[in-house]
Amino acid sequence: MGDVLVTGGTGNLGRVVCEKLREAGHEVRVLSRRPQPGHSVRGDLRTGEGVPAAVEGVDTILHLATAPRGDAEACSRLIAATQPRGPHMIFTSIVGVDRIPLAYYAAKAECERLIETSGLPYTIQRATQFHSLIMRVFHAQRRLPLMFAPTCDFQPVDVHDVADRLVQHVDAGPRERVPDIGGPEIRSGHSLAKAYLGAARRRRRVVNLALPGRVFSSFRAGANLAPDQANGGVTFEEFLAERF
Ligand SMILES: NC(=O)c1ccc[n+]([C@@H]2O[C@H](COP(=O)([O-])OP(=O)(O)OC[C@H]3O[C@@H](n4cnc5c(N)ncnc54)[C@H](OP(=O)(O)O)[C@@H]3O)[C@@H](O)[C@H]2O)c1
Repeated sequence: MGDVLVTGGTGNLGRVVCEKLREAGHEVRVLSRRPQPGHSVRGDLRTGEGVPAAVEGVDTILHLATAPRGDAEACSRLIAATQPRGPHMIFTSIVGVDRIPLAYYAAKAECERLIETSGLPYTIQRATQFHSLIMRVFHAQRRLPLMFAPTCDFQPVDVHDVADRLVQHVDAGPRERVPDIGGPEIRSGHSLAKAYLGAARRRRRVVNLALPGRVFSSFRAGANLAPDQANGGVTFEEFLAERF
């Protein structure tokens, strides 16, 4: 089996992906801005430092690194470093990047376009919000007397389920844009807030919060959901049970 480079291999999703790739017998190399124990290469996609050494000789790149700003430039640097070789580029994007007018999502959509037009063999996997992200929204409010819940639905997915799918892509080879992956349940913000409070054993009134603007109207219209892909996997309650 060939070597796999995982950018973002120290992140929420990346840590689990690296574990599963190693279990499946792959040689895994991690690109990180900080030196890591084991098979890692120090590098920075923002400056390009260390990136050519990181991609050297790998057959597959799982590009999971992300930052609030600069994802498109980082992706472009990574693609440039792969030339003239053509490793399989696997990119994790987000459901609705082309429908929800957030700057962070626009950058992800631009990464998709850069990869599609790069000439590299590629697989693009969009995923819904991770359980950990939804939990953080509620956890951030833990000291408030009330719990605010957005008036839209989410379909949170577990990083272990996304990681399993990404490992399949490594083994299967390039598939271009593949069906989205979503969590097992589509739930209202209100019901997810209640689940968080139940797991954290906190008593708070949940107040629905309808935010104005185009971003929230696209969330309310369900642009962040993959209803045809609610095919099982770890539920939000199961995820929370591991944390509290
Ligand atoms: N969170 C969600 O709900 C969600 C949903 C769908 C899709 N996704 C996508 O899934 C992917 C993984 O998300 P995540 O939540 O697991 O990410 P995360 O935990 O925020 O991790 C970010 C990773 O990016 C790396 N990174 C950041 N800036 C870098 C730079 N300049 N150079 C090199 N590495 C850099 C970090 O590595 P070091 O700090 O070690 O350098 C870290 O490993 C992302 O593409 C994200 O958009 C996320």
